[in-house]
Amino acid sequence: RAPLLWNERMKSWLLSRHEDVAFALKNAALFSSSRVQVGGRPRGVFQVESVAELITADPPVHTQMRGLVSRAFTPRQINALEPRVRELSRELIAEMTSRSEFDFMDALASPLPVTIIAEMLGIDPVRRRDFKRWSDTIIAGLIARLPTGEEPEAATRSRAEMRVYMTEVAEARRREPRGDLISLLVQETDGVPALSPQEVNAFTMLLLIAGNETTTNLLGNTLLALIRHPEQYEALRRDPSLAACSAVCEETLRFDSPVLGLSRRTTQEVEVGGGKIPAESMVVLLLGSANHDPRKFPEPERFDPTRDTHGLMSFGHGIHFCLGAPLTRVEAPVALRELMEHVPRLGFSPRQSEHLDYGPTFALRGPRSL
Ligand code: HEM
Repeated sequence: RAPLLWNERMKSWLLSRHEDVAFALKNAALFSSSRVQVGGRPRGVFQVESVAELITADPPVHTQMRGLVSRAFTPRQINALEPRVRELSRELIAEMTSRSEFDFMDALASPLPVTIIAEMLGIDPVRRRDFKRWSDTIIAGLIARLPTGEEPEAATRSRAEMRVYMTEVAEARRREPRGDLISLLVQETDGVPALSPQEVNAFTMLLLIAGNETTTNLLGNTLLALIRHPEQYEALRRDPSLAACSAVCEETLRFDSPVLGLSRRTTQEVEVGGGKIPAESMVVLLLGSANHDPRKFPEPERFDPTRDTHGLMSFGHGIHFCLGAPLTRVEAPVALRELMEHVPRLGFSPRQSEHLDYGPTFALRGPRSL
């Protein structure tokens, strides 16, 4: 009913239909990702100072940056992580189920992605606790900051500590490469230039922000969808194959999108969604809404893992399509499969009832605790 809507509070235009969201994401020249100042502060979903320019850059800078970092995310490298994801999931699940009541987010959904990223990067095992703390405080800071624009002190401190450590690691790997992601990024390979220590730090921070909370939320949303749809839970118990777990995760990405919206800025007047958006306007592309557009996904409110999810908007579309999608597509199904295999039945604790806290931002969606 409202393909194009002005939202006064957000000072943004909202686009809600699948076709229009896809159009905007495909046309980076009309809908720019570069940072904009509205009301004196940067606006945007992922945008935070010191994050690598990648996500907030337009071509040609974006194209070059993407080329530099995408060599660390090839299908071969990501698929090789599967055994480790399985092993870690198993360990976390064993620890979690040693108690009869637990917080799924704290016990599995949150530590799994951040540990895998730390290992991929090659963070020294003795610094992994620090890394997790930096990640947690920086992400919490970002979420707290989205509505107010102010970053909590703990987050500022963590960013400073992380910068010192990552610079040291980047220097060390440049001198003496190991088989990890940072070693790859600080070396020149096949004519692709090396990243500077500052760029390594900024890219690592982007991975933390773009990769951790999102995968954590997907895991939480997946479990929630299964608890709320017992017939689907039963079907998965009957066939807990990796393919069936993947189908459940894909449908959860559509049904309960971990990233609800992306910000863009129009570079000129654009006719879209049955109206006109003036030049230099903020536009929020509602990914969650596009995923529930009945023109694209019939009966969108039905949670149906057997449906065709082709055209899903949850990872974005076009040149900024999520770099980490293949990693999430390994992590989430593998963790779910281990859960199905090792935990006979999961449900709300009596204290949870149905009340869920989703935190203060609408951009990133997932339960705080479960
Ligand atoms: C970009 C969603 C997991 C790294 C994006 C974008 C979306 C997204 C919507 C597009 C942003 C834009 O167009 O402005 C998600 C979701 C995830 C997930 C829903 C999990 C459920 C990950 C993981 C990583 C990652 C695990 C890395 C470890 C990135 C990066 C970009 C990105 C680096 C920027 C790409 C570019 O600008 O070219 N993600 N993401 N994401 N994501 Fe993800």
